Amino acid sequence: MTEPFTKTVSYSKTEQVHLVSPADLNGNGRLFGGTLLKMIDEVAAIVAKRHTGSDNVTTAAIDNLTFKAGAYVDNLLVLIGYVTYTGNTSLEVRVDTYVENAITGIRKPINRAYLVMVLLDEAGRPAKVPPLVLETEAEKGEWEMAQLRRAKRLGQ
Ligand SMILES: CC(C)(COP(=O)(O)OP(=O)(O)OC[C@H]1O[C@@H](n2cnc3c(N)ncnc32)[C@H](O)[C@@H]1OP(=O)(O)O)[C@@H](O)C(=O)NCCC(=O)NCCS
Repeated sequence: MTEPFTKTVSYSKTEQVHLVSPADLNGNGRLFGGTLLKMIDEVAAIVAKRHTGSDNVTTAAIDNLTFKAGAYVDNLLVLIGYVTYTGNTSLEVRVDTYVENAITGIRKPINRAYLVMVLLDEAGRPAKVPPLVLETEAEKGEWEMAQLRRAKRLGQ
């Protein structure tokens, strides 16, 4: 059995549900892209805090942000975030966003984003993150894809 503090993907996986309200909308009655970005950043920060066991994490990069469909008032937004990769002082978090039909439970994907989060020490310097323990073939596949994204981001 997995130890409670083994830093697996499921250990820090986070699901957040948000009811879209009029305050979240732009002039055309759709969810603001910036509002969604804030929610995505927040979920990634929670995942990073849980994985590292620290409050002191910061966002270094966000990429692959694509808006596939709009969201409207009273829609349920579901954001699911989990760690795909750990480096030395950074980790990559994938956040998928769905619009959920509350009656049928069917979720329609609207966005996928990858965020690089960095752990900082008391002096604000990057600090070593706990390694990610991979348990499934799917997680190993995600790790390999994350390595390609990392090389592209860092121009390697
Ligand atoms: C993120 C930050 C701490 C990195 O500091 P730095 O001096 O570049 O530190 P390093 O070069 O040691 O990099 C630290 C880690 O971040 C990663 N990193 C740094 N810049 C990155 C970028 N643009 N894209 C992806 N990863 C990046 C590095 O690869 C390294 O990861 P690793 O140790 O796993 O290999 C610093 O740039 C910063 O404080 N940025 C502002 C963050 C912020 O305020 N975010 C909130 C939104 S504005």
